[in-house]
Order: sequence, then structure tokens, then C-alpha cells
Amino acid sequence: MRLIQAGVGGFGSSWIYTARECEGFEHVALVDTNLGALRAAGEIAGVPPERQFTTVEEALSKVEADGFIDCTPAPCHHATTTTALRAGLHVLCEKPLADSMAAAQDMVRVADECHRVLMVTQQYRYYDQPRCIRNLLVEGHIGQLDHLVVEFQIQGLLFGWRQTMRHPFLLDMAIHHFDLMRYFLGCNAVRVQAMTWNPPVSNTRGDMCAFVWIEFENGVRVNYSGSFASPGCDTGWNGRWTFTGSRGSIVWNPRDDWGPIRLFRQNADLSQYTEQHFFTPLPELWGEPIWAPPIGAAGHHYDLYHWRACIEAGVEPETSGRDNLNTLALTFAAMQAADTGSVVEVRSIYQAETTPSMQT
Ligand SMILES: NC(=O)c1ccc[n+]([C@@H]2O[C@H](COP(=O)([O-])OP(=O)(O)OC[C@H]3O[C@@H](n4cnc5c(N)ncnc54)[C@H](O)[C@@H]3O)[C@@H](O)[C@H]2O)c1
Repeated sequence: MRLIQAGVGGFGSSWIYTARECEGFEHVALVDTNLGALRAAGEIAGVPPERQFTTVEEALSKVEADGFIDCTPAPCHHATTTTALRAGLHVLCEKPLADSMAAAQDMVRVADECHRVLMVTQQYRYYDQPRCIRNLLVEGHIGQLDHLVVEFQIQGLLFGWRQTMRHPFLLDMAIHHFDLMRYFLGCNAVRVQAMTWNPPVSNTRGDMCAFVWIEFENGVRVNYSGSFASPGCDTGWNGRWTFTGSRGSIVWNPRDDWGPIRLFRQNADLSQYTEQHFFTPLPELWGEPIWAPPIGAAGHHYDLYHWRACIEAGVEPETSGRDNLNTLALTFAAMQAADTGSVVEVRSIYQAETTPSMQT
């Protein structure tokens, strides 16, 4: 698959290595407004200077390709992605899909109009352990899922355009966890409450910490605490997850060197427990280690293979632009809930003419 990539500095360089490691993918042109980044990426990708461009339009007019990777900053995505779609390319766009709901909806509309596949790189769900946890939940190993507690802590120093984002943590980082929640629960969020703040140790203008409470369509409640300003013990990028159901719990603590998922199954007959058992502990459970079966190519490698397979089969990717509107709406709902101090119905975000501005 012949690829044009826009945005090759920063995180964009990782896509160049990923494409090189995946069979049947080749960068045929690169685009970046920063010449230094363009030249450096050209060296790595083996793309000569005559196929390095400073505008997407020029690249599209001079080089034939099948797909377009959009790794520009979020505020650029609408322009860059719709230009590539209209030129007939399929697009793999970095999260967040756009900086407003209206822009994201328009990108999905343009993809439909042009009959092109638009996929978003929410790769956190494309790893062994999340795939395994989803199966454990669907197979009912902990009974009826009731609530979920997610904790995330990392010291994230942000630079450039992220320093002036209003909600750098929610829109740039927590969006991965929100997408994972939707994946695990197999449904969308209904309403959200949130509180955000910015500790002195943060180097950004916008808030780097958040407490978010979410109710999902299946009645599951989520308690999310996320901090991008935690110089101490960190949870790793995935965070720490505890799923509680009617017959046990699943604990996912991938910081533990991607060790096993722990499955705690409660086999006691809870209906036999009466008031006199109040101070009697339930039979003590030992977390059964569950080693996730390997899924093969994971993360961004999975993104590339899945995107191409969907293009070939003419089907919509799991994390298509359309699907991702739900992750984006949840993220904007959390931002709005934090800004207004009120409970936000996620459906109001889909209908909103404007969503909260991305920049401070
Ligand atoms: N999926 C992930 O885990 C993950 C991780 C990091 C970043 N990202 C996403 O990747 C995107 C880029 O982030 P980044 O950290 O690389 O940002 P960055 O600012 O470090 O790099 C962006 C690059 O795009 C270039 N650029 C800016 N405007 C452009 C335009 N109009 N046309 C072409 N090039 C342009 C810049 O010169 C720069 O080289 C963001 O959407 C971000 O959220 C995703």
C-alpha cells in the first residue's frame, strides 16, 4: 500500500518505522511544514527530497498513493484529511479525530461521500490484554458487570500546541482511556460529570488532572481519575483498571510488566448471606492469573493491517471515523462538564453546533 504521510516530526516518525515493519506498506511521499522534520523523516523513510512536500495539496497532485496517514496536530486534521479523502485516498487519522464535533462529523461525511475508509488510530484497544479482557467480560466470568474504576498517573511534560490547549489531558490523553471504556463495555456513554484542575508541577496552561464519572448505556458506572502531573509512582500509559461484577472482579495493572490479568471469581452463594454474616468475610479470593493469548501484530501495526483489510473487504474499521464520533463526544462531554460544573448528557454533544474550543 503506497502511503503519503502528513506530519512527520514528533510522533509522526513512529509511523515511518511502523510502516517499514509492516509487510506491504511503503511511504511514497512525506508532508511537513517544518523542513528540518521533513528532511530527517525522508532519510529514515528512504523518500527522496523530490517527494517531500510542505503542503498536502502539492503531494497529492504530484505523487500517486493509496492511503494517507494524518499525524498533524489535531486542529489541522479536518483540512488535511478531507483534502486527502477528496483526492481519492483512504485515511488513517491520529486521535483526536478533530478539534470540534462539527469538524469530525464533516470528516465522516466527506469519507462517505468519497466512498473512502476513514479510520482513527485508537490503538490502545488493539493489544493482547484488552482483547482478552473484553472476551472475559463477554463470556460472563465476573457475572453482570456493575462498575469500573480506572486510575491513570504519569508525569507528562507537554510542549508546542499542547501547552495552550484548554484540556490537554482530557483531549490528548484521556481520550485513549475513554475509547478503551467504550470497547470494554461494548456501548456508549450516556452522561458525564467531571472536575479538572492544573497542579503547579504542570508545564501547560490547561488542566492536566481530572476526575470523571460516567454512566454508560448498559448501566455500568465508571470512576475515572487521571493525572498527567504525577511525578511519583506512575501507572504506565494504560492505567490501572478494576472491573467489578456480580460474581467477582478483573484487575488489569499492565504497569506490572504486562504481567497477567487477575481474575477474582466469587463462587460463594451470596443469597445465603444474612445480617449475621455482616462481619464475616466472604471466602478469600486469590486473583487467578490470566495470560492473554497473543493477537499477533498489535498497536499501530494492528492499525495498519486492520485499515488495509477493511479497505480490501469494503467494510468499516472497528475504530472508523464514524465509530470514533462516540469517543470524541464523550471526551467533549467531559470537557464541558468540567467547565460548567454540571451533568452533561452525551447526546447533547452530538447535536451541538459548536463544542468547547480546544485552545485556552
Ligand atoms: N496514538 C497515539 O498514541 C499518539 C501519540 C502521540 C501523538 N498522537 C497524535 O498525533 C498527532 C500529532 O502529534 P505530535 O505529537 O506528533 O505533534 P507534533 O507537534 O510534535 O508534530 C506534528 C508535526 O506536524 C507538522 N505539521 C503541523 N501542521 C502541519 C500541516 N498543516 N501539514 C503538514 N504538517 C504539519 C509539524 O511541523 C510537526 O512536525 C496529534 O493528533 C496527536 O494527538 C497520537
